[in-house]
Amino acid sequence: MVFQKVARVSDIPEGHMKGYTVGNEDLVIARIGGRFYCIDGICSHEESRLADGTLEGKIVTCPLHQAQFDMTTGKVSKDTPWATDLREFAVKVDGEDLLVDV
Ligand code: FES
Repeated sequence: MVFQKVARVSDIPEGHMKGYTVGNEDLVIARIGGRFYCIDGICSHEESRLADGTLEGKIVTCPLHQAQFDMTTGKVSKDTPWATDLREFAVKVDGEDLLVDV
């Protein structure tokens, strides 16, 4: 595992998400229930940026055709089968820093 510093804890308030680009990877990181989660930042349907969508609870909704993903696992909802599962990345908190295993 190679954890890289991607953001600061204070960048992402509870219940919010934010998009990041690390090397060739587009990611979205959310804070849910005090924990941080990271999945692919680009929708698996037609490449829309998930950070431009909405986060309700642990469900992120794509802004383009409303595919829904579980932010804690990257799994697509069975109600929106036009998209496929996204990758989940491990997140570590180190003081004020958020590190992601990219
Ligand atoms: S691009 Fe995300 S649902 Fe179509």
